[in-house]
Order: sequence, then C-alpha cells, then structure tokens
Amino acid sequence: MQEAIILVGGKGTRLRPLTNHTPKPLLNVAGSSFIRHQIAKLIDAGVEHVVFATSYLAGLFEEEFQDFSQDLRISYAVEKVPLGTGGAIRNAGRLLRGAPDEPVLILNGDILSGVDLRGILAAHRGRDADVTLHLTRVADPRAFGLVPTDDDGRVLSFLEKPKTAAECVTDQINAGCYVFRRSVLDAIPGDREVSVEQETFPRLVAAGALVYGHTTADYWRDLGTPLAFVHGSADLVTGRARSPLVPPPAEALIHPTARIDPSARVLGGSCVGPHAVIGPDVVIDRAIIGARVTVESGARVHESVADHDSVIGARSVLREAVVGCHAEVGADNELPAQLRLSCGIRIPAQGVRVSGTAVACPTVH
Ligand code: GTP
Repeated sequence: MQEAIILVGGKGTRLRPLTNHTPKPLLNVAGSSFIRHQIAKLIDAGVEHVVFATSYLAGLFEEEFQDFSQDLRISYAVEKVPLGTGGAIRNAGRLLRGAPDEPVLILNGDILSGVDLRGILAAHRGRDADVTLHLTRVADPRAFGLVPTDDDGRVLSFLEKPKTAAECVTDQINAGCYVFRRSVLDAIPGDREVSVEQETFPRLVAAGALVYGHTTADYWRDLGTPLAFVHGSADLVTGRARSPLVPPPAEALIHPTARIDPSARVLGGSCVGPHAVIGPDVVIDRAIIGARVTVESGARVHESVADHDSVIGARSVLREAVVGCHAEVGADNELPAQLRLSCGIRIPAQGVRVSGTAVACPTVH
C-alpha cells in the first residue's frame, strides 16, 4: 500500500491575514482548497493512505474532510506544539502502516507542482535510495538554499542561500517533495523541533546515506507569498499548471452563483467565488475574489486577493493587495502594491491614493 504524509502544520505567516482563520493548505485555489488538489494528485499516483501532519488550526482539517468519500484513508497526526518539518515527518510516521523498507511520499502543503509522483517513486526504488528529493531549477538561485548533485544525481551537500555569484554552484533547489525509506524517517528525533532542510538532510548526507535528487523541469511554484498564491491559482485556471479538479483551461473560473455585470471583464485566470457581485465596468485581472465579495462599478483588481465578505468600492484600484475578510475599501481608493488589509478594517472613500491623480479635496478651507 502506497502511503504519503502532507506537512500542513505551519502558521502561513506570509499569507496573513488570509491565514488568520484558515490554514494555508485550506485556502481556496482555483475553486477548491489547495489540499484537495494535492489529494487528487496523490490518488492519481496510487496513494491509498495519507497522514496529515497538522498543528496550527488542526481541527479545521478534520472538518474539511469529514464527508470525504473517495477511496483514500486519511489519518491525522496533531502536534500540540509545532515540531518543525523534520519533527512533523517523524511524528506522522507513527501512523504509517508499511514495513521499515517501504517508500513514503512526503509533500509540503503549499507547493503547486507538475512533477510525476509515480516517476519520483520509481526513481527512488530503482536506486534503492534512503531519500529521494524532488529538485527544481530556478532562474535566480540567490533566494534559495541550493542542492548540488553529482553526475549520478547523488546529493553532495545542502548549501545555505548563496551570498556571492561564486557561491551559486548550482541552480537546483529543494522542491518540497520527498520520498523517504520508512526506517529513515522513523530515526528522526520526534521529541523536539527539527527542520528537515537544515538538520535531517545535511546529517544524512554527512553520514553517507543514499540521498538522491530527482531533477525535473515540470511546473513548480511555492504558494507561500500573496503574489505567488494568486499566480498559482491563475496558472491552474489558465492550464499552465494542472490539477484533476480544475475544468478545462479558461480565462476565468466563475462560481455559478456569482453575479457579473455584462460590462465587467474577468480575465487572466481570475477566480470569482460563490455569491460574489461584480459591478459594471469592473476589471478583475489575475485575482482571487472570495465568497460574497462585492466589487463596485469601475473598480480594478489586479493580482490581488479579496477574502470572503469584503467590499471593494467604486473606482478603487488594487494591485498585489490582500484584503482580509469583511474588510471594506471605500470608493476612489488607490492602494499601494503589497498592502495587506486586516480582517474587518474600513478604509473610507478617497482614504488612500498612491498616484497624483486629482480627486476632490473633502476638507473645507
Ligand atoms: P510561513 O509562516 O509563511 O513561512 O509559512 P509556513 O508556516 O507554512 O512555513 P513554510 O512555508 O516554511 O512550511 C513549509 C511546509 O511545511 C508547509 O506546508 C507548512 O504547513 C509545513 N510546516 C512548517 N512547519 C511545520 C511544523 O512545525 N509542523 C507541521 N506539521 N508542518 C509544518
């Protein structure tokens, strides 16, 4: 029986306020919670038992899957205090049923990837490896820890983020998907916080364990930041990234209960959630509009997330913004890029403008 662990216990601080009430893997991406896309992929790869390694807002995972009826056994390994990625793997390992030699698939709960999971399992078995890591190549390696391999794909070391061009010895990075021999994950300390990237992998390499990289050029994106999150969702809608749960490629994914004025344009792989109302002349471009959100006439929302029950006022402009649930952006605002509005906050009409565009001054001199 093929088993898997998904790491879903992180707080998702970079995605706040979206993650204030919802763990990152349960956020809606292209019409389904992100973890459901991962589960669909695991089922396609023949996985029959998955363990969720939970901690932050752990109970919400059991709620999400209480009526799950597909042919997959789900177990929950709850950490009272977060154990880090390595500690979480060890803790979830207690619930596995396979023999010590069996390979176990492990996924980070925030990576959107086109990698063929059967392919990485086959590579692992073919080499009788202790650990096989999916590696991806990045254009600019300076923002990542690097994973150089030899000609056979064996991992040479795990390097910290390079500071100079000379330290960029490879463009391969850890893609957040691993196969572990079960006995190897059982040996990770389970009683304290352990980082798999910073502690477990370097120790295994230093001890001479058979740690291999499986480098592919498949689609790959870490959805941990707001911009990556909206881009990942748009890629699923437009077909650049694939999930068994997403309908054929389209310009937008609009819930049947949403109301879109005929003069509005919803494009770039945007999603519009249930009961949202999009007014006349609105432009929604590569954005995620949550359930029951109202976007008033002439507003423009680019590469942003408006969480459920929020309001975007008439003629307001948002770029790379995150609007928390129940927040209200009044009319004629122009929000600076990367602004995050807390849940429930209100910005009055004309409250914020980043350009010099003249609007009537409301004060009397
Ligand atoms: P940020 O706070 O924004 O960095 O996000 P994060 O908390 O999700 O951290 P990060 O992106 O580094 O985590 C990578 C993956 O590991 C995510 O799927 C997390 O849910 C998961 N993860 C991180 N720390 C823990 C932990 O202590 N326990 C468990 N079970 N999972 C974790």
